[in-house]
Amino acid sequence: MAARLTRNVGRNHMINPYDTKYDQETYYWGVRPCSMCFDVLKLLPPDRPLRLLDIGCGEGRHAVFFARNGYEVSAFDLSEKGVEKTRLLADRCRVQVKVFRADLNWFRLEEEYDILFSTGVLHHIPASNRQEIFENYKCMTRTGGLNAFSVFVTKPFIEPAPDVEPTAHK
Ligand SMILES: C[S@@+](CC[C@H](N)C(=O)[O-])C[C@H]1O[C@@H](n2cnc3c(N)ncnc32)[C@H](O)[C@@H]1O
Repeated sequence: MAARLTRNVGRNHMINPYDTKYDQETYYWGVRPCSMCFDVLKLLPPDRPLRLLDIGCGEGRHAVFFARNGYEVSAFDLSEKGVEKTRLLADRCRVQVKVFRADLNWFRLEEEYDILFSTGVLHHIPASNRQEIFENYKCMTRTGGLNAFSVFVTKPFIEPAPDVEPTAHK
C-alpha cells in the first residue's frame, strides 16, 4: 500500500533530531493548524476533489486538518516517528491521510497535486538542489493549483530559533 511505503530516503542515514523531539505522547508542534491553512481554505476551497501534499508534515497537524476539511491528502516527512504520529492523529480523527517517509532532497513528485503545502521545512534543501526540486514541484502542480510554502528567514531583528537543525541551509 503506497501509504506504508518508505520512499527515497536516499543516503540520509543520520538520525533526524526530530525523531527525538517527536518521541513522546504529546505533540511537539501541537495539533492546531497554522494560519496559512486558513488562507489555503479561502483561496482553493475543496468544493471539488482536490489533491494536497504536505511536504515535511512533522507529526501531521496540517495534513489532518486538511483531510478533516475534505481535501485528498498525502504527506511525507523524514522522521519515522513523525510519520507514525501523523498516522495516529489521522486514525484518531478518523480521516485518511496517505503518509510515507521520504527525504525531500531525494524524493521527486511523480503525481500531480492541486496544492503543495509546506511549513518550516524547505530550508533543508541545499542551494545546489533548489532549482531542480522547485522545477519538479512546479511541473507537478495542476493548472490553477497553489503552492503554499512558509519558510524560516534570517533577520537581524528576529531571534534565531532555539532548535538545532544540523541540515538547515540559509
Ligand atoms: C520545523 S518542523 C515542521 C513540521 C511541520 N511542517 C509543522 O509545521 O508542524 C521541520 C520538519 O521537517 C522535517 N525534515 C527535515 N529534513 C527533511 C528532509 N530532508 N525531508 C523531509 N522532511 C524533512 C523534520 O523531520 C520536521 O518534521
